[in-house]
This record gives sequence, C-alpha cells and structure tokens, in this order.
Amino acid sequence: MAKKYVTDKIAEVRIGDQVFTLPVIEGSEGERAIDIRQLRSETGLITLDSGYMNTGSCTSEITFLDGEKSLLNYRGYAIEDLAEKCSFVEVAFLLINGKLPTNKELDGFKMLLNDHSIIHEDMVHFFDGFPSLASPMSILSSMVNGLHNFYPEMDDPKETLGLTAARLLSKVRTIAAFSYKKSKGYPLVYPRFNLSYCANFLNMMFDSPVQPYLINDVVVDALNKLLILHGDHEQNCSTATVRMVGSARVNLYSSISAGINALWGPLHGGANQSVMEMLEQILADGGNYRKFIDKAKDPNDPFRLVGFGHRVYKNHDPRSRIIKKACDDVLKSLHVEDEPLLAIAKELEEVALNDEYFVERRLYPNVDFYSGIIYRAIGIPTNMFTVMFALGRLPGWIAHWEEMWKSPDAKISRPRQIYTGPLQRKFVPMEERE
Ligand code: SDX
Repeated sequence: MAKKYVTDKIAEVRIGDQVFTLPVIEGSEGERAIDIRQLRSETGLITLDSGYMNTGSCTSEITFLDGEKSLLNYRGYAIEDLAEKCSFVEVAFLLINGKLPTNKELDGFKMLLNDHSIIHEDMVHFFDGFPSLASPMSILSSMVNGLHNFYPEMDDPKETLGLTAARLLSKVRTIAAFSYKKSKGYPLVYPRFNLSYCANFLNMMFDSPVQPYLINDVVVDALNKLLILHGDHEQNCSTATVRMVGSARVNLYSSISAGINALWGPLHGGANQSVMEMLEQILADGGNYRKFIDKAKDPNDPFRLVGFGHRVYKNHDPRSRIIKKACDDVLKSLHVEDEPLLAIAKELEEVALNDEYFVERRLYPNVDFYSGIIYRAIGIPTNMFTVMFALGRLPGWIAHWEEMWKSPDAKISRPRQIYTGPLQRKFVPMEERE
C-alpha cells in the first residue's frame, strides 16, 4: 500500500494493563482504517469479524462507493455519467486500464473483442455433455474454467493479461448466448463483426435462420446500461472470491470461474432471478404482495423480500434508480408498459419504502430489484438473469484480479479463526466408542 495513505493518527488498543498503538490509514475519499497488519505480532491477539462486515481486505484504486451518500464511482467517474454517456465496452476498458479510451484505443479494443469472439469448436461440443436442464450459471463457470485448457499462456500474465481480458469479455458473451441456444435446441448464431458488443449478444441470442432478429436501439441502450451498472462494486462476495482464489496464483480463467460460482448465490447475484420468481409468485397469488411483505417481516420466517437490502447501501442503491428509468423506457419501446410484474414491483417498492420494518433497517431496492423485468421484456429467460450479471461484472473481476496480482504486498489470502471446539482429548479405540 502506498505510504501516502498512512496518517499521523494512531489507534490505541488497551489489553489488560498494556496499551498498544496501531497506525490509522486514510483513503483518497477520506475513508479511514486501523491498520492491524502488525496486531498479532505485537499483541498476540487477532480480530474476529464474521462476514467481514468491518474488515477491509485490501486497498484498491478501481471503485469507490459510499453507502450513506448513495455514491458509486468507477476509477473516479460517477456511475450516472458512465451509464448515460458510455458504452459497456468503454466502461470495461476504463475498469481494466484505469482510463477512458481514446477513439483509437476504443477501436483497437473493439477489434480485439471481435477477433476473440468465437470459442474453439471443440468447446462447442462441451455443450452436448450438459443435460438440457443444466443451470446456465453452472455451464458458464465450467466453460470459463475450461478456457484455460485452450489458452494456457495465461500462466505468464505480464505479457498476456490484455489479450486474456479481451478473450474473456468476448467469449463469455458467446458462451452465454450459445448456452441459451443449446438449451432450446436451436441452431447456434455466431458473433458478427459489424455489430456492437450488446447488439451482437442480442443477435446471437434471438436471431434465427427462419426469423431474423431486428436490433432495437432502445433495448441495446438498456443492455449497455445494465452491464455498465453491474461493472464493479468494490469487495462484494464474488469479487472478493476472485481475489481470494487468484491470491494463490491461480490463472485468471479459473479465478473468474470461482467468482461466477460465488455470484450464483441467491443472497448475491442470484437475487435478480429470485426477484422475478417472487414477483411471478405474487402475480399467481392474485397480486397479494402484502402477504409477502408480512412474510419478510416475520422473524420466524426465513423469507426475505428479494431485491431489497444491501450490505453497504443504507440509503438507495444508485444503480436501481437508473435501472428503473431504463425499465420504463424499454417497456414503452416494446409496447409492454402494462407489464403486470412491473406494476407489482412498483407497488411492492412503494409499500416497503413506507413500512417501519424496512425503514428502520434501511432496506431499499437494490440493483437486482428491477433488472429482471428488463431482461424478461427483452426475452432473456429467468434462469439466465444471473449470467447477465456475470457478463456485466466481468471487467470488474478482471481489474481486481490484475490489481491483486500486481500488488507489491499481495499475499495468499488466509484468514485466521478462533477455535471453539473440544479441548485435546484421549484417543478412543473403536471398541470403546458409543
Ligand atoms: C447484490 O455486496 C455487493 O455489493 C453486492 C451487489 C453487487 O453489486 O455485487 O450489490 C449485488 O448482491 C445485491 C444484494 C442482492 N440480494 C438480495 O436482494 C437478497 C435479499 N437481501 C438480503 O438478504 C440482505 O439485505 C443482504 C444479503 C443483501 C444484505 O444482508 P446483510 O447486510 O448481511 O444484513 P442482515 O442480513 O444482517 O440484515 C439486517 C436486518 C435483519 O433483520 P434483524 O435481524 O435486524 O431483525 O435486515 C433484515 C434482516 O432480517 N433484512 C431483510 C432483508 N434484508 C435484510 N428483511 C427482509 N427482507 C430483506 N431483503
């Protein structure tokens, strides 16, 4: 970590009659942390922080978010500006390279993405081995992990990281679309160089030999926004997983595959699929969303109002507001403004935002609450919603893996623990066990 973040402030820890001092560091946005890297060697004690609610695992120059002020910046740029004024490819370049691309750089990046947009034909046959009901997320993590077998040179990232990043960004998009086509038994549609990143994805998903897909600019724009809004989010569970696995010097493909699996969880990226399933359940139940709100508030019921709440945002999630606007635009453009699920979502949001339980716990709609409605309007199946999240988060994962890999003080991640099991006991031979 750069010395410039060390401050002249110290934290004092009193243990018995001893007082220990620990340095305080301050980040570029004024966040402060007690630097406990010498704590155990000086005091013999460690800290305990289940879920890392209060623990920073690294310093990072990629993304800053302020949960109180509902701020989200990628490399210093406000998410509102990036979502409004950039394409996803531009933002992916920004996250990975730390700067917005010039026209020349962007053209070169687009060409690289095009050059690496298809997957080895041997990999296409992998799809034949998956059962038809296989989860697109399990297919995605398996295929991404398999990419290492076709591009082993990744083991020396200094030379090949840029190429590997382009391969991942482009091939993951193709794998996602191919997994959809395969799941339907439809012929594969290959990427086309004359289409933008998002238009290409939509074309690979929905074009067919009998019914050409008409590219709708409003849908392409909404997909760009959705992918940008999912681009990165500090040390969320899946990004922290990519860093954790990569810290053992695992190649980028396999580290990303681990991140895909972490994202799959319903408490994390899997929430966008669960939101849609919840809204469909409410619709099937005659629109009785109050029943679901009461379930979510019942301390004895494990049900949670999916799409609400966030570990960091204790005010609104800046991304959900942008997505809600894009949602209205897409539904209007596709002439499905009266989508009943949207009406239920808006009523659910309205009631929850005024309900004491949610207000007290500062639970607001998060990024996953409205995104599924757009994906569904575009025609993306519910079981692919989290794949879309992974597609958006990919540049963030790549940027964090590279930052960790290049960090001068990078170490293998190995948290400690406090043991609370049985004390040492005498061995019990089989005949004496009960
Ligand atoms: C993402 O980290 C990231 O940045 C993630 C993400 C990203 O971009 O990477 O933003 C993407 O994962 C968004 C979150 C998607 N998950 C969901 O929508 C699932 C539903 N939400 C939750 O389960 C929950 O809000 C979490 C997991 C998101 C956050 O949980 P925390 O921070 O661990 O908070 P908690 O579980 O300790 O909850 C605090 C209180 C509890 O009540 P009490 O014990 O105080 O009575 O709030 C309650 C919880 O029961 N609560 C909810 C709730 N979320 C929290 N109650 C009902 N419905 C909910 N959704």
